[in-house]
Amino acid sequence: MVHRFYARIRRDEVLGPIFNGHIDDWDAHLATLVDFWSSILRRTARFSGTPMPKHTALPDLNAELFQRWLRIFRESNAELSNQAMVEQANATAQRIAQSLWLGYQTSNFPDQLAKGLERS
Ligand code: HEM
Repeated sequence: MVHRFYARIRRDEVLGPIFNGHIDDWDAHLATLVDFWSSILRRTARFSGTPMPKHTALPDLNAELFQRWLRIFRESNAELSNQAMVEQANATAQRIAQSLWLGYQTSNFPDQLAKGLERS
């Protein structure tokens, strides 16, 4: 799931350049993301990172980029055989994207009221 998704992300004309501009070592990033999703979907506790500050530090993120990320995630997962897992992964990604986007606005635009992502 993780490798398939990030292969798509890297090819995406909008998100690809953002990721490729920040990630030097894709093998290490993919290993981190496999641990992240393993912790969520299989309760393995393998992930011990800090996603919120890593994302609030990225310049120029916006709601459309988070929606695009979610759309590519769902499209990539639609081809997988374990759709019970996919349902859980998609719902969790939606919640985390929402939380990252709210945190991003609070951190980067503290004078504005943070707006949630529309459910797509
Ligand atoms: C517009 C959407 C997004 C962009 C452009 C983005 C970009 C990035 C980048 C560039 C990094 C590497 C940061 C670094 O190592 O300094 C990263 C890390 C990460 N991202 Fe995202 N991301 C997005 C959305 C998401 C979402 C929705 C999730 C979860 C569902 C997610 C999960 C993670 C995790 C777990 C890490 C590793 C954090 C760590 O090492 O502690 N990202 N992201």
